[in-house]
Amino acid sequence: MPRIVLVEGDITAQRVDAIVNAANPTLLGGGGVDGAIHRRGGPAILEACRRIRSTEWPDGLPTGRAVATTGGDLPARWVIHTVGPVYAREEDPATLLSSCHTESLRIADELEAARVAFPAISTGVYGYPIDEAARVAVEAVRTADTSAREVRFVLFDATAHAAFARAMTG
Ligand code: APR
Repeated sequence: MPRIVLVEGDITAQRVDAIVNAANPTLLGGGGVDGAIHRRGGPAILEACRRIRSTEWPDGLPTGRAVATTGGDLPARWVIHTVGPVYAREEDPATLLSSCHTESLRIADELEAARVAFPAISTGVYGYPIDEAARVAVEAVRTADTSAREVRFVLFDATAHAAFARAMTG
């Protein structure tokens, strides 16, 4: 089981091997953490996403799946893009959110990324209640079969950080 660390801050600044992006199925960028990663990571990330769309996932990346690209100008070497569930739209959002974490860690293992940073996937635009999401995310990482040494949850505000801290004591 990887060491799990909580950080309050900006995921684009994290000096880890891979950061996970809360993307959408187009993989062509957006707002929130997706926008921040593309802004700070530069055009190489979008170019790599476009290549993935034109080869592996022509119809878009399904919810719960993950793909890796270069980290571009980011401190992190790779970005692992995953699509979280839109909370109000899914029958079983917890299973899909859990899959975002286990699939991202499976890809991190393929990249031999020892240190991986996650944002609070789906808790912004996608409307996942932060306490529920924190419990699912922490449980998924705790039970994942991964060789990652450290998993960092990078929370953008104190509310999210407190929710993950509660989930960690659960
Ligand atoms: N670093 C860390 N966390 C961040 C950052 C950042 N720079 N910017 C935003 N966040 C946090 C938000 O505060 C929220 O807790 O990331 C979490 C996820 O919020 P969103 O980025 O809105 O992602 P999500 O809810 O998964 O919605 C995905 O939003 O940006 C679009 O293209 C994306 O359509 C997709 C949708």
